[in-house]
Amino acid sequence: MQQLIRGRVLDFFADPAETDRNHRYHEDGAILIQDGRILAVGDHADLARDGLPEIDHRPHLILPGFIDPHIHFPQLQVIASWGAQLLDWLNTYTFPAEAEFADPAHAARMAGLFLDQLVAHGTTTAVAFCSSHRTSAEALFTAAQARDMAMVAGKVMMDRNAIPAVHDTAQSSYDDSKALIETWHGRGRQRYAITPRFAITSTPGQLAAAGALAAEHPDCHVQTHLSENRDEIAYTLSLYPQARDYLDIYETHGLLGPKTLLGHSIHLEPREIARMAETGSRAVFCPTSNLFLGSGLFDEQGLRAAGIVSGIATDVGGGTSWSMLTTLNEGYKVLQMRGQKLHPLAAFHWATRGNALALGLETEIGTLAPGSAADLVVLDPRATPAMALRAERARSLAEELFILQIMGDDRAVAQTYVSGRAMKTA
Ligand code: GUN
Ligand code: ZN
Repeated sequence: MQQLIRGRVLDFFADPAETDRNHRYHEDGAILIQDGRILAVGDHADLARDGLPEIDHRPHLILPGFIDPHIHFPQLQVIASWGAQLLDWLNTYTFPAEAEFADPAHAARMAGLFLDQLVAHGTTTAVAFCSSHRTSAEALFTAAQARDMAMVAGKVMMDRNAIPAVHDTAQSSYDDSKALIETWHGRGRQRYAITPRFAITSTPGQLAAAGALAAEHPDCHVQTHLSENRDEIAYTLSLYPQARDYLDIYETHGLLGPKTLLGHSIHLEPREIARMAETGSRAVFCPTSNLFLGSGLFDEQGLRAAGIVSGIATDVGGGTSWSMLTTLNEGYKVLQMRGQKLHPLAAFHWATRGNALALGLETEIGTLAPGSAADLVVLDPRATPAMALRAERARSLAEELFILQIMGDDRAVAQTYVSGRAMKTA
């Protein structure tokens, strides 16, 4: 069955930070959908025909659904935990909360609620760290598959320096990850990410097991954390005294490459930046988290100039909002502190096609090109009285987008489509 979704349609085919010819915009536009895929995008007048079911979202904007390339599934009740920086925050709040995901009933309940929050905020694909328990990844994949929602996820591998309830072993983490890959990677819209949490919580033996998995499954992503916090870096280097630097630990265990997502990547040495560029490894900027945990200011321009592709993500629950709009807002402010500018067109490109490029999934998600999944977000730049008041003076599409970027959150998400189905109930 075909259907038409009508509104002010916007997507990107190039990065506005790099070229002025970068987006397609149809003021009275429409997206033709069949079986969860986009068949065509254009002016409404060219696509409408008698008998074709149509949903009219005018005057709202319709974009590809947001992609969140770094979020922690078992931290949905950790968000807004007071007073700590990274290592204390992990020990005090995070590891105890993640321990509860050993219980399949808890994990299943939380998985549904996790996906509900993503959809409420207009996010249609996430790259998620699960807990160390296989059950947590099973629960998330099962719930995402039932919604036909594209997830990239993996159970964290962590065999030291936390609490016993969240420890696995090098062997069990290898076996559980392998079993999850066999069951879930490439099943429907699900993909597996090999997920050593970070060097502090993995023995060298476990990082070797992660590297073996990456070599055996080169089409899986790898996700971990890198150089988020000064104390983290010092502790890490004390645990791996032979390493040239933090990145070298991941490099010597075969964990770098274009499918590798390195969360935070803030306090980098020149050699690390060069090796990230040479290996094609991705950096992921998590602005609300970096501010909340007092971690530091990401250098977007510096990494771009070095040739590194970056994503932008929430990092819930170190991050303080599920909203990619709020994330773009805080990202704008972090870059202001660095003397860098995040233009609204570049911001909306980043949260959609840019993050898809960071994942290497740009033919599947992140644009409205025919053949892509019909994953869409419908945005209302006048969602609140304060936004509507500001929008009275908006003179361009870029100004409207900037209102969404700076003032928007889930209230501005009028609807979210996943595989062509409206997911948001009033
Ligand atoms: N480094 C290792 N684990 C985590 C985590 O759960 N959140 C953040 N922000 N950093 C980490
Ligand atoms: Zn994280």
